[in-house]
Amino acid sequence: MSGGDQEHRGTIFVDDAVVLSQEEYPGQQYVTRLHAPRCAASALPGSFAHVCCDPAVPMRRPLSIMRASAEEGWIELLYKVIGDGLRHLSSRRSGDSVSIIGPIGNPFVASRKKSRPMLIGGGVGIPPMIFLAERMAADDGAAKQPLVLMGSELPFPFQPEKSALPVTGPGKQVNQGMPLMESIGVASRLASLSGFSGCYKGFVTELARACLQAMSTEELAEVEIFACGPEPMLAASASLARDFDLACQICLEEFMACAVGGCAGCTVEIQTENGPAMKRVCVDGPVFDARSIYAA
Ligand SMILES: Cc1cc2nc3c(=O)[nH]c(=O)nc-3n(C[C@H](O)[C@H](O)[C@H](O)COP(=O)(O)OP(=O)(O)OC[C@H]3O[C@@H](n4cnc5c(N)ncnc54)[C@H](O)[C@@H]3O)c2cc1C
Ligand code: FES
Repeated sequence: MSGGDQEHRGTIFVDDAVVLSQEEYPGQQYVTRLHAPRCAASALPGSFAHVCCDPAVPMRRPLSIMRASAEEGWIELLYKVIGDGLRHLSSRRSGDSVSIIGPIGNPFVASRKKSRPMLIGGGVGIPPMIFLAERMAADDGAAKQPLVLMGSELPFPFQPEKSALPVTGPGKQVNQGMPLMESIGVASRLASLSGFSGCYKGFVTELARACLQAMSTEELAEVEIFACGPEPMLAASASLARDFDLACQICLEEFMACAVGGCAGCTVEIQTENGPAMKRVCVDGPVFDARSIYAA
């Protein structure tokens, strides 16, 4: 067993979680809340759960943890049905039992020195950004002013609302945000090519660029980027970070089998100081320094 696996011993649990709620949003998107106290107590932004969608469906499905309450013992997952597994999960109702393994993976690590973190989430990459923003607001309060930018071509899996928190760069017409973020004092803005009212028309990374371009040199020095989403969005985030000389952490959503470090089914090549190395996304990630994945 490698060092990575040792680190996770005693912190990854197999639990029979109980469905507390299952909400459906357009485009076969669902938010489910599960009673899973041990997972909730150890989950960190970037952690994921490996979920048995139905005993009859082979293989668990990896899903990022979107929110967790250690006090109330629940975790929330946001997922979009692609095929058979998540379709079964979406049919679970309150009171049903769902086996989960988690929390798995190394989380995002925010710098104490940077006061303007920029969180970029695309599609089913939005969940870890919500978790990270909530933790930043709870742990760092006024010391950090996170900005959450979310992109989706489907209607967002929440009801967007006009934001009262100002964001410089994209223009006044880009005014829709996420009510949950607004309620904790975190500014958010939305991007889509689908023409949703009040959203930036374009890719979420273009929205991010507009925000960065509007910042002063002093403000830019306070920014670090965190991103999760489809691969082209992660590549664009890494390129944005390079252009503005910013640190950037990305969360990969690779295909996975065991998700606990045993099968090497999720390995990716990363660049280290000693040259290329193979790393398992499940236990060595899923969060990596963008420069180690996307070399200049
Ligand atoms: C660390 C991590 C976090 C993720 N977080 C989320 C999330 O928060 N919300 C969300 O909607 N999706 C997330 N995904 C992607 C999600 O796991 C896949 O979309 C899901 O497994 C598809 O299952 P399905 O039953 O709907 O589709 P199926 O087509 O039935 O899946 C078939 C097989 O392919 C695998 N598979 C298909 N697409 C993917 C994929 N993109 N990544 C990994 N395996 C895949 C499945 O595990 C399964 O074995 C995450 C993936 C990873 C690795
Ligand atoms: S999925 Fe098996 S080692 Fe990562």
